[in-house]
Amino acid sequence: MARCFITRTLPGSAVERLSEAGHAVDIWPERMPPTTAEMISRIGGAEGLLCMLTDEITADLLGSAADLKVVSNMAVGCDNIDLIACRDRGVHVGNTPGVLTDATADLALALMLAISRRLPEGMSAVRSGDWKTWEPNFLLGMELRDRTLGIVGAGRIGNAVSARARAFGMEVIQSGRPDGPTPGLPLTQMLAQADIVSVHCPLTEETRGLVDASFLATMQKHALLINTSRGQVVNQTALAAALSNGDIAGAALDVTDPEPLPSDDPLLTAPNLIVTPHLGSATNRTREAMASIAVDNLLAGLAGSPLPHPVI
Ligand code: GLV
Ligand code: GLV
Repeated sequence: MARCFITRTLPGSAVERLSEAGHAVDIWPERMPPTTAEMISRIGGAEGLLCMLTDEITADLLGSAADLKVVSNMAVGCDNIDLIACRDRGVHVGNTPGVLTDATADLALALMLAISRRLPEGMSAVRSGDWKTWEPNFLLGMELRDRTLGIVGAGRIGNAVSARARAFGMEVIQSGRPDGPTPGLPLTQMLAQADIVSVHCPLTEETRGLVDASFLATMQKHALLINTSRGQVVNQTALAAALSNGDIAGAALDVTDPEPLPSDDPLLTAPNLIVTPHLGSATNRTREAMASIAVDNLLAGLAGSPLPHPVI
C-alpha cells in the first residue's frame, strides 16, 4: 500500500481504482490548486503524485518528497514539471497524450471560425442592441475555403487540426527543419504565406517567446493567429502591439501568460482578440479519459512497472 496525493478532484471514477488497489488516497478538495507550501505539507511520505498543469513541480518540492516514485501529470504538456530534477531523483513522470488530440483540434477550429467570422462581435452587437438590421456590409469576415493554414508544431494535435482544415477546403503548410521529425518550410516562408497561423508546439526553451515581434511582422496583415498550446510561446506585449497597429488582423488564444489572465491585463484592450480560459481538453469524454490515463500511470509507477505513457 502506498500513499498518493492528488491535487484536485478528478472527473469520472478512475480515482476509485487507486483505493481498490489498496492505496491511501489524499485528494485536495478545493477549487483553487494547493500553493507550494500546501503541496509540501501534503506530499511528505507520498510515493505517488497526480498533478495538474497548474502545479509547479520544482526541484525544491521534490526535495520535500523523499519517498516519491512517480509524478503523473493530468496533461499532455509537462512544462510545469522540472523533468531534469525528476530524472536525477529517479522519479518517473507520465502524461496523458492522444486522448485530448481531437478535443484540442476541435477547439482550434472553433477559435479559427469564431475569429474569422467575428462571432464575439456579433454576439455583443445582439446583446447591446447594435444589431439594427441585416446589412450588406455588416461584420464581414474571412471564409476558410482556399485559404492557407500554417501549422507551427505538426505533432498529433497539429496534424488533427490540418485534417479538419482540409475538410474546410484549406491548404495546409507547416514549418519545420528539412531534417527534423516533422519536415516543413522555413518558419519565415511559412508565415509569409499563411492566412491563419495555428500554434501547436510544446513549451520548451526553444519555443518560449517564439511568437515575437518579428514573427508577427512576417505574418500577412490580413492573417489571424490561433494559439491552443501554451501562453508562454507568445510574447503578449508584441501581440498586443501587432493587433493595435494592424500588423495582423486578429488573434484567438486559449492559453495565456499568466493563467488566469487578469481581467485588467493590457492584452485584453487589443482589438480583434478572443481569449478563452484554457479549454482545449475541456470535454467530459476527454477529461475522463485523461483522468483514467493519469491513474494508469500512477498505478504503474507505484507498482514499479513501466508507465503506459512515460515522459521520462
Ligand atoms: C493541456 O494544456 C494539456 O497539456 O493537457
Ligand atoms: C443569407 O441568409 C441568404 O439567404 O443569402
